[in-house]
Amino acid sequence: MTHQILRLDGRHSTVCIETEAGAAPVWRHYGARLGETAAGLMSAFEAAGLRRLAPASLDRLGGAPVFPCFGNGWPGAPALRASRDGRGPVQDLVLDRVERPGPQRAVLHLADPVSALAVRIFLELCPCCDVLSVRAELDNLGPGPLRVDALAAASVAVPPGLQEVGSHTGQWAHEFQWRREPVPAAGWCRENRTGRSSHAAPPACFLLGPATGEFAGEALGCQLAWSGNHRFALDRHDDGSLLLQAGEWLAPGEADLEAGATLATPAMHLAWSGRGLDGVSAAFHRFARRHVLRWPGGAMRPRPVHLNTWEAVYFDHDPETLRGLASQAAALGVERFVLDDGWFPARNHDRAGLGDWRPDPCKYPEGLGPLIAHVRALGMEFGLWVEPEMVNPDSGLFRAHPEWALQVEGRPLVLGRHQLVLDLSRPEVADDLFAQLDALLAGHPITYLKWDMNRDLAQACDGSGRAAWRNQTLAFYALLDRLRERHPQVEIESCASGGGRADLGVLARATRIWTSDNNDAAARVAIQSGALRLFPPEVLGAHVGPAPAHATGRVQGIDFRCAVACFGHMGVEANLLAMAPEERAALGGWLAFHKQWRGVLHGGAFHQGTSPSGLVWWLAQAGDRAVLAVITPDPPGFGCEPPLRLPPLGGTGGWRVRLVKQAGKPRARAEAGSPWLDALRGGGAWTTGEELALVGLPVPVMNAESVLVFTLEAD
Ligand code: DGJ
Repeated sequence: MTHQILRLDGRHSTVCIETEAGAAPVWRHYGARLGETAAGLMSAFEAAGLRRLAPASLDRLGGAPVFPCFGNGWPGAPALRASRDGRGPVQDLVLDRVERPGPQRAVLHLADPVSALAVRIFLELCPCCDVLSVRAELDNLGPGPLRVDALAAASVAVPPGLQEVGSHTGQWAHEFQWRREPVPAAGWCRENRTGRSSHAAPPACFLLGPATGEFAGEALGCQLAWSGNHRFALDRHDDGSLLLQAGEWLAPGEADLEAGATLATPAMHLAWSGRGLDGVSAAFHRFARRHVLRWPGGAMRPRPVHLNTWEAVYFDHDPETLRGLASQAAALGVERFVLDDGWFPARNHDRAGLGDWRPDPCKYPEGLGPLIAHVRALGMEFGLWVEPEMVNPDSGLFRAHPEWALQVEGRPLVLGRHQLVLDLSRPEVADDLFAQLDALLAGHPITYLKWDMNRDLAQACDGSGRAAWRNQTLAFYALLDRLRERHPQVEIESCASGGGRADLGVLARATRIWTSDNNDAAARVAIQSGALRLFPPEVLGAHVGPAPAHATGRVQGIDFRCAVACFGHMGVEANLLAMAPEERAALGGWLAFHKQWRGVLHGGAFHQGTSPSGLVWWLAQAGDRAVLAVITPDPPGFGCEPPLRLPPLGGTGGWRVRLVKQAGKPRARAEAGSPWLDALRGGGAWTTGEELALVGLPVPVMNAESVLVFTLEAD
């Protein structure tokens, strides 16, 4: 018996890969944590010996390869598509050796001397987060260049029975729309070629069983830590099983390797859970908190409440008005004032100015200093909007360097929002942008940048005519890394017309995602719920916008707008000076509530669910404190609500439940003479976690656009 089982263990999951020198490693198990002695079947039998070959099939592998190749005899999609001068498309990367750099880490060294290629597959199963991270590196050991058309970050055998796929779709102002569908017989594929992680197909998907729900059943989630083009595919095989493959989507030529060069993929992060979607999201949240986010100073401090000027003033920057806005914001409890688009020369509309990152002398004759000083004197931090990757043809930068824009020689320029994309991979471009941003940050006490990106990449070719999507993403990362190194105290927000660049790659450099340009609170419920499947609430910007909402024209009450924004990283994006005094007072109350509970909201375990009647609920729990929002986004589905069952809160004692905030009204009669609601609003009602989980919390039926906010404290 020469085969061996490589085993990695998480808290609740185990990975077993069959390895044998000279053979392709194959998946044997990725799923529930196995007991220590559970290796009998796997160590005694090889995958191939367990499988009867189908009639008319090749004598091929018995299991799904960790790195499928044409040469393995695997008929599905290969992890690598490469050739040399049109020759040698068949690789056979087999195991050379296994390296174990740590108990739950392994590197599979694969080699194919005939193709003169070597591949390393890095695997790590984090024992505290239960997240399996996989990535690959490819070496071109041949004497000549290698054309690389595809290199998957990972190819993973999907646990049998998971035949539904959950993913996010969307568009501008309608991001993170959750969608669940059976995997078609022919498999499933999502590709993104926008040059950012995109509104339509963020780099993530979930595999689910027919009985998998929010809190029960088997689920596998996966996210690619990459902000550029990507491809996710589910390839189906003749036994009905699925192989999940994800990686960069490569344009022709952009990842070709010179002799001796190496190509590295981004990491794919996977989470398996036996307790439904909630288990996967919990793993992703833990992983982002512990291993991805890099906070200035090394640890998250209470997330400052924002005032963002965009929907308040747009391009109409009048320093006097902005000072008034800042004063009003500070009076309401805002802690960070973010000056959005419109502060630099010629930026009176979106047709000019991008590229010239200095204050507009007309709007700010004395520079930004006086406004920043005013903001800071009010006790707030100052943040600034920038969109460094972009340039308007009508700008000083473009007039001086038209060749700096990505373009195809001989073709008309393709504009998006009147702007072009700068080729960040040119050192002189990156240096110029770094110098401009460095001057701003060095010259002012700015502790926050909202980094925007408002168009897709198209005609993304560099000066030599080569495809530039990939290099652009790498150069974007490098620029952020360089800035963060020079200004470690500065936090960065990732925005791309809302949530168009939201992924674990950018979150290693940014600490906030602007979730959506849609501040309509009813629309936001689905957007935030979708985003929460992937990311923890403290990185999801959520603002109280004006009424009517600018993205939809719908009017919502101030309490409803505040309640929904309260469950993310809260901010305000409305003209406070034009708000009615009672609205401002209500807003101030919600900001204070958010601050009182943000330790729980931003550090605790976050759960979400929907009720049979269409209620949406969000629950954050940190130890003996929890806060719960029960949201009625649309007219309720039932005449009265069934009790709302919550996930187990843990602990042995009881819980005191209080109804502390309310947006919207109960339906007629729902509230009349309810001792239960009176108790909840008074000293609270005592119950146990078991009752809340098994019997449920009685809630009144509410009108559309309502939220009930409960606190739960161990008692
Ligand atoms: C798009 C962003 O998503 C908005 O929040 C705002 O910053 C505008 N760009 C400014 O142009």
